Amino acid sequence: MPKLDFHPSGRHFLQIPGPSPVPDRVLRAISLPTIDHRGPEFGALGLKVLDGIRQVFKTRHPVAIYPASGTGAWEAALVNTLSPGDLVLMYETGHFASLWQKLATRLGLQTEFIAWPGADDHLPQAASWRRGVQADLIEARLAKDVERRIKAVCVVHNETSTGVTSDIAAVRRAIDGAGHPALLMVDTISGLASADYRHDDWGVDVTISGSQKGLMLPPGISFNALSPKAIEASRSAKLPKAFWAWDEIVEMNKTGYWPYTPNTNLLYGLAEAIEMILAEGLPNVFARHQRLAAACRAAVEAWGLPTQCADPAVHSPVLTGVVTPKGVDADRIRKLIYEHFNMSLGTGLGKLKGRMFRIGHLGDCNDLGLAATLAGCEMGLKLAGVPLRGSGMLAAMEFLQSTATPAARHPDAHISR
Ligand SMILES: Cc1ncc(COP(=O)(O)O)c(C=O)c1O
Repeated sequence: MPKLDFHPSGRHFLQIPGPSPVPDRVLRAISLPTIDHRGPEFGALGLKVLDGIRQVFKTRHPVAIYPASGTGAWEAALVNTLSPGDLVLMYETGHFASLWQKLATRLGLQTEFIAWPGADDHLPQAASWRRGVQADLIEARLAKDVERRIKAVCVVHNETSTGVTSDIAAVRRAIDGAGHPALLMVDTISGLASADYRHDDWGVDVTISGSQKGLMLPPGISFNALSPKAIEASRSAKLPKAFWAWDEIVEMNKTGYWPYTPNTNLLYGLAEAIEMILAEGLPNVFARHQRLAAACRAAVEAWGLPTQCADPAVHSPVLTGVVTPKGVDADRIRKLIYEHFNMSLGTGLGKLKGRMFRIGHLGDCNDLGLAATLAGCEMGLKLAGVPLRGSGMLAAMEFLQSTATPAARHPDAHISR
């Protein structure tokens, strides 16, 4: 990207699928003076965020909060529960599932990486990156594991590289259907607080998430939500762990403190973000994301371009992957949009490099924000000479207008505070 020698007027449109824009109210909370992380005020803050985050994960069990990016929380989930050489069943939904598999291998685990075996005309190199986890494949594999060598099943709930979600309750049913004792670990780094998620109801043993997506915070905090079975497994797991170890964190968290220096100011921001999310109500937050995603897909369909997600049942409410016509470099379109309209879109990752771009519509996102985003996309596609069937922006506006209700208004904190 060229270096701009002046500050462009207006705000930058950060429409990547995370980090997502941080609301002013959260930024203000983060800017409070840093306090003593062993003093009395901090304990109250710690207990508040720990209680709030359990409501967001929908769990009654402990949630470990790390001063780390999501990758750290991936590692934490594995090292706390598994031993060297353990076999882990992982499912290839996209780039992030692939990175997690690579990380597991580096830790000394054996991994089996299964994928949807079908073919795809648009993206033959990444057919399984257009669909969610097929739970029946997991059930069939577990049923064959008579020696119970597989110790964990790892899946990504919202695959940020593609815009495809997976049915986690179905994965739980598959594990139970096979009568298999493997732990279920789920990455919802980009799903939490945007897409419906239920740690306890879905019987997840470790849920991994991060701060910089639906929680509307800057990067820097990540999470492991635990189950009693995961805590039990951590007592005999042999992979080396110190910083990531749950036992000391969970023990000290009982009084609102951490065994190390937590990122105090981001926790102020987390408390504020949780307050905003719970005030809007989780069902309303999820419905808002579903509606914005449907509007975005209406635009993509009107342009006559395929979405990366090929299964209408599992479109992500967080982002939309747009596949560009063969021979059109998606990154060139992104570059034109960045240079002309001061907007960042997500690049195609891994196998999808140059073949698609990603529109983020998560966190602090509303109707007009999305409409402007789609206007920028449409102008960029035209500048790049991509033939469009019709106006996606108009289609999205039609959808937004016809589904608008006063309740669709984001309860804006700038007005109330
Ligand atoms: C689904 C998913 N998993 C894992 C990660 C890695 O998290 P981080 O980049 O915060 O380490 C990301 C980051 O975007 C993600 O979207």
